[in-house]
Amino acid sequence: MDKSTKLMKSILITGCSSGIGLCLARGLKKNGYRVFATARNIKDVEQLKRDGFEVFQLDLSSSDSIKKAVKSIFQQVDGLYGLIHNGGYGQVGALEDISRQALDEQFQTNVFGWHELTNLILPKMKSNNEGRIIYLSSVLGFIAMPFRGPYNASKFAIEGLVNTLRLELMHTNVQLSLIQPGPIESKFRINAYQAFKKYVNMAKSDYQTNYHSMIKRLNSDKLADYTLGPEAVLQCVLHALESTRAKIHYRVTFPAKLFALLIRILPSSVMDRILFKAGDGGRR
Ligand SMILES: NC(=O)c1ccc[n+]([C@@H]2O[C@H](COP(=O)([O-])OP(=O)(O)OC[C@H]3O[C@@H](n4cnc5c(N)ncnc54)[C@H](OP(=O)(O)O)[C@@H]3O)[C@@H](O)[C@H]2O)c1
Repeated sequence: MDKSTKLMKSILITGCSSGIGLCLARGLKKNGYRVFATARNIKDVEQLKRDGFEVFQLDLSSSDSIKKAVKSIFQQVDGLYGLIHNGGYGQVGALEDISRQALDEQFQTNVFGWHELTNLILPKMKSNNEGRIIYLSSVLGFIAMPFRGPYNASKFAIEGLVNTLRLELMHTNVQLSLIQPGPIESKFRINAYQAFKKYVNMAKSDYQTNYHSMIKRLNSDKLADYTLGPEAVLQCVLHALESTRAKIHYRVTFPAKLFALLIRILPSSVMDRILFKAGDGGRR
């Protein structure tokens, strides 16, 4: 794709206040795209504006906020070339400690918000006869790990929606890609700890020992083994936007590639033992 064509391509990214979203916003802008960066908190909106971005406030847990952001963006451009679903968080905790409300909140942001946003953007992509929708799923969108149930379920749900939508859009020129990273350097763990504190009553749990290990991990500066910087995701996103045929899956980091292979060749009972061990009682 030459630079002049790229200059006309507009991309909306959610969750640009930190981590992968911020890296994508910077990287795509540098690569000549018109980036509509979004964040849910006004202080982040203001910071992104100061950094030179076109910014809109967008909270994925609020229908009104999503509709308002899309309306404002469509006053600037007649449709988008790319939509990057990135904003989200990980609700951690043993499933028996997770209330319906905690699960609902996890799905409002990680699943329902993404679905609603897709449906608002998609019609113009179809009528423009081009578009790329990129979803930040996870290795936890195809394997499960203990004490990450709500997050796991939200990413499995996204994969189900995307796998269906891809079939329904087969006759169009809109291409969908799932990015499935393992550990990436970001504020993810610290934000997961906030969600844990909000919803899990540790004092009443059977899993206090596991939680002590988990909290230590979430608050540690030490990166998990095989962690990559968010630039590794940017490389996949560039490919998903620019290649004639975007890949359906982009697995990022060694663990994501390894588990994608193992899940195809090993029986479920063996996978369960490996994943139980990999979780190490909350330590990983
Ligand atoms: N880091 C990893 O290891 C990893 C691995 C696999 C997949 N992922 C996925 O990558 C994506 C980005 O995560 P990250 O690692 O960059 O973590 P992060 O640094 O915590 O960034 C998450 C972003 O999502 C935003 N967000 C949270 N709730 C939101 C809401 N209701 N509406 C709009 N935005 C919201 C956050 O905004 P606030 O600052 O306002 O909270 C932040 O901008 C997520 O979908 C995550 O599941 C991450």
